[in-house]
Amino acid sequence: MTSPIPSPPAVPFLGHVTKLDRDLPIKSFDLLAQQYGEIYQLSIFGNKSVFISSRDLVNEVSDEKRFKKKVSAGLKEVRNAAGDGLFTAYGPEEPNWGIAHRLLMPCFGTANVNNMFDDMMDVISQLVLKWERFGAREMIDPAADFTRLTLDAICLCAMSYRLNSFYRDEPHQFATAMTDFLIESGLRANRLTLVQAMMPGTNAKYEEDQRIMGELVSDILEEHRAHPPAKPDLVQVMLTGRDKETGLGLTDTNIKQNLLTFLIAGHETTSGMLTFTLYFLLKNPEAMRKLREEVDTKLGDRPMGVHDVNKFPYLLAVMRESLRLGPTAPIRTVTPVEDTVLGGKYPVEKDVTIIVGIYTAHKDPKVWGEDADKFRPERMLDGKFKALPPNAWQPFGYGMRGCIGRPFAWQEAQMALVTIIQRFDLVMHDPTYELELKQTLTIKPHNFYIHAHPRKDKP
Ligand code: HEM
Repeated sequence: MTSPIPSPPAVPFLGHVTKLDRDLPIKSFDLLAQQYGEIYQLSIFGNKSVFISSRDLVNEVSDEKRFKKKVSAGLKEVRNAAGDGLFTAYGPEEPNWGIAHRLLMPCFGTANVNNMFDDMMDVISQLVLKWERFGAREMIDPAADFTRLTLDAICLCAMSYRLNSFYRDEPHQFATAMTDFLIESGLRANRLTLVQAMMPGTNAKYEEDQRIMGELVSDILEEHRAHPPAKPDLVQVMLTGRDKETGLGLTDTNIKQNLLTFLIAGHETTSGMLTFTLYFLLKNPEAMRKLREEVDTKLGDRPMGVHDVNKFPYLLAVMRESLRLGPTAPIRTVTPVEDTVLGGKYPVEKDVTIIVGIYTAHKDPKVWGEDADKFRPERMLDGKFKALPPNAWQPFGYGMRGCIGRPFAWQEAQMALVTIIQRFDLVMHDPTYELELKQTLTIKPHNFYIHAHPRKDKP
């Protein structure tokens, strides 16, 4: 017996557009899940989307025989700049996805990411130096500094190119253009074509942001052609690599789209994760105390080395728990390969958009219990983490379209957190601050400020 998918009352023509918070749609998805349950359906200007938000349903759609990634709405608009680059490609039906996937996957293997250790530490040291030099009185915007860190790190490690964001008062203009481009891409997805055409100023700004982003990736490519780096990097692989399966390489256009993809996908997510982690640690002093004890015991004053990566069990638990409550990529989108039935009773047609609500599913009480919304790293220590039901924790996506940069992000975040914990006593600027979110393609804490006191109690 099948049942219709629950759906809130709709307004004629507009559908459920008024049900969504324009700036923070993720909050609306969460609230609607509380009202309508693990599956519900919305219609935006006639486009139907199914929202799912329980571990069971996330697990069900994590089956590549039945479901595949769908590039629609905001992500489809991101194609205006990133084309068929890895993240926004429709999938294997676009040959460039397969070529880039096979060529670039190995670049992000553990050994290659380990080789990026020194360049990562170079950028992390710039952040530490800045915080030390400004001193404890400076009000630090960690999201802004972590964005400097992660953008410079992906650029230096993968593209041998220095953005020097720590030497600028304002964010690098690429970062600003990218943020504005992503916000506008999301808004466009919910705008009528006619309305869009009547927004010349917005459209011109959108074009200009793409031009600024395009200029940087062209510059990176030209630099490589003119002065190939001594140490081969991702750009070298893109320029010279040949796919074993097809014998083909990447075109210049596709290389630029993939460089842009790595700059977009490779920094916002990790900077958000680092910001969430500091927020949760500062709100949970006992977790901060345990983490500091782990770092002090293992390293003392010795700087972290490449052999220390993945050797901090409590830190890994803290990072997993931060990504559970603050999955910086809060949704992903899939579609059934054929007409299907979800959850044993809800029919879903082929090609219908299914929004996989990771942000909500990560708090599923069936998996995480009644304190699902509490930050408790202990539940993420190895033994418990490995015993979780499949796909209960899925911040990096799934399967062949899952995150290619996961080992990079994982190493970078460990290095940054260990180094910061070793060097500073952190305090919140406003101790009464409660988490506010900012959403673009990703989510991160908003209006969250800290002070960094150089540690006086060095072990
Ligand atoms: C894909 C999350 C860091 C590059 C994804 C997806 C998720 C994700 C959820 C799948 C998206 C989908 O299904 O539509 C994250 C998180 C990160 C992170 C939470 C950090 C904490 C990175 C980094 C890089 C990167 C550092 C680059 C070095 C990519 C790329 C894809 C991707 C290229 C598309 C892969 C494909 O479809 O072939 N990421 N990511 N990500 N990520 Fe990440």
